[in-house]
Amino acid sequence: MTFPETRMQRLRSTEKMRELVAETHLDVSDLILPVFFNESISKPTSTTSMPGILTHPLADYEKISSEIQRNDLNSVILFGIPSKKDSAGSQAYVEDGVVQKAIKGLKKSSDLLIITDLCLCEYTDHGHCGVLHNGSVDNDETISLYARTAVSQADAGADIIAPSGMMDGQVAAIREALDDAGHKNVAIMAYSAKFQSSFYGPFRDLARSSPEKGDRSAYQMQCGNRREALREMELDISEGADIIMVKPAMSYLDVIYDARNSFGLPIAAYQVSGEYSMIKAAGANGWIDEKRAMMESLLSIKRAGADMIITYFAEAAAKLLR
Ligand code: PBG
Repeated sequence: MTFPETRMQRLRSTEKMRELVAETHLDVSDLILPVFFNESISKPTSTTSMPGILTHPLADYEKISSEIQRNDLNSVILFGIPSKKDSAGSQAYVEDGVVQKAIKGLKKSSDLLIITDLCLCEYTDHGHCGVLHNGSVDNDETISLYARTAVSQADAGADIIAPSGMMDGQVAAIREALDDAGHKNVAIMAYSAKFQSSFYGPFRDLARSSPEKGDRSAYQMQCGNRREALREMELDISEGADIIMVKPAMSYLDVIYDARNSFGLPIAAYQVSGEYSMIKAAGANGWIDEKRAMMESLLSIKRAGADMIITYFAEAAAKLLR
């Protein structure tokens, strides 16, 4: 049957009708908020290219956790900016490192689920995601440092470790180290399909983690490679990932869709700093309706197949969803 018997607009005619036939829903429990701690600051600090996102001093963990929980958010992903950087990124895996202290503080003051980003780029003086040999990142040496970092984050109380460095074998190395250290129930959320992207720009301003020389194209994926993304995800699953991630989100919705159709495990998407800042900037100029664009972007990421979304909009979206 076609028009005039069939009328698609029948099911769009009222708000209640539209709610009844909605295929995709966004829930506060889908959202993960990135939280930044900087060891060297004593007051919250803003970053011009990420409007509304603060970097926090360690002492503020109590204030931060109660604000996050007031918005009904359950989970955060932590990033740390150390006061000292060196060539081996050693502040990433010391017992009293910035992230380790932040985990302990947040655990003491809340029951938030704590995910930790695991990478060395915020901790190395050269800004690469691993240790360098002859100017390029040494994969195999780097994964043993990732394993150490994972154990130190789990010792501090992290619930989920999220390796983001795109080193080969990183998930297996981390799983083995966690199990050997008795952290059998600490999960791994693998940044499996992480593309080399210009949309990370604002994050790197904030975390001061741009590579001093060169870029990340020797370890992060190139934009056009959809089949290779599936291989990356397959490998991470076989190495023991509990959750796989696609990053960035909006320019890679097909990769999220592929992941959803290929694998049964939970899928995360990271709506990264540049995606956030573009919407904020256009909203601030009055060129788009910021709140509606925010909700549309998040819903489209879920529609593509993501179960959970890491997003700088988590608090703003949670306020609208309540
Ligand atoms: C660490 C890391 C980065 C992001 C998340 N973890 C930076 C990068 O790979 O350069 C980017 C997040 C964002 O842009 O919001 N490797």
